[in-house]
Amino acid sequence: MPEKNSVLSEEILHLKKERNAIILSHNYQREEVQDIADFVGDSLELSRTAAELDCDVIVFCGVHFMAESASILSPNKTVLLPELDAGCPMADMIQVRGVRNVWKTFPGYEIQPVFVFPHEFTLRDIKAQYPGAPVVAYVNTTADVKAESDICCTSANVVKIIESIPEERVICIPDRNLSMWAQKNTKKQIISWDGFCHVHDRVTKDDVIEARKKYPNALLMAHPECRIEVLELADHVTSTSGMLRFASASDAKEFIVGTETGLMHRLRKENPEKTFYPLRKDMICPNMKKTTLKSVLTALREMKHIIKVSEEIRIPAKRALDRMLSIKS
Ligand code: 13P
Ligand code: SF4
Repeated sequence: MPEKNSVLSEEILHLKKERNAIILSHNYQREEVQDIADFVGDSLELSRTAAELDCDVIVFCGVHFMAESASILSPNKTVLLPELDAGCPMADMIQVRGVRNVWKTFPGYEIQPVFVFPHEFTLRDIKAQYPGAPVVAYVNTTADVKAESDICCTSANVVKIIESIPEERVICIPDRNLSMWAQKNTKKQIISWDGFCHVHDRVTKDDVIEARKKYPNALLMAHPECRIEVLELADHVTSTSGMLRFASASDAKEFIVGTETGLMHRLRKENPEKTFYPLRKDMICPNMKKTTLKSVLTALREMKHIIKVSEEIRIPAKRALDRMLSIKS
């Protein structure tokens, strides 16, 4: 570790103790931030951990919706997001309220869900059009969107969550790729929002063909935020922590990693005898990389930025998160 980082890390550890704080990090964070964290995981693991922690302060090294979820689940703890503008563009693609009420369908494609375009339409529009269809909100949504939803899901449990619902038609928001993946794995009808993650959605079938040619012995793991054309060519489709489990359990020695490159750190650290190649080198989420050791230290020193959700939103949002957490993964 560079000397500057080790000084920062020492200060962080000292302040963390003083504040009775726990540091949570998503698998996409910078290496040095992951290394200082008490717990590193995928969205589902981080939500479960946040709900169970015994501490006064949670420093959330991730993006805004993750800190918001921690605050919803642990309202008596102070939740800090070191970089206030670390947001998720996909989460911002859906809003609760709005004016227009038009959408487009793509009939004739077997597993194509119904799409609703982001920004021009709202969650309330789609709920009005499909009365009685429960809303499954990916955790990558804002608190007020969760508050209008019936149940949350993550990339690790989306199919299980959909299958747990008695209704035959469900509205899935906001990721069209995750919806498409779910549609391929369930007989229920999925009504989907047309949002996407710019980091995963940029990967094409040609990228897969090229990577396969370059690394013929490697297994391809892909995140369900990738396009269906990519997922259909993968050896395993799963969340970030699902990839960690798959890589360590597999006899294969080489893997192509179809998700944000921050995951490579844990993959390499936990499997030193195996080799990992990024599916595309530019699968980097700028928002996930905003948090640095310096900003973690400042967060603890100045107790900022506190993420708090009003009770009016928190209670219904917590209901949707709790419902998800009650389903065994
Ligand atoms: P998971 O770690 O749950 O797979 O989430 C991916 C993601 O994009 C979080 O922003
Ligand atoms: Fe959002 Fe994609 Fe970044 Fe995750 S990787 S925070 S989904 S933009």
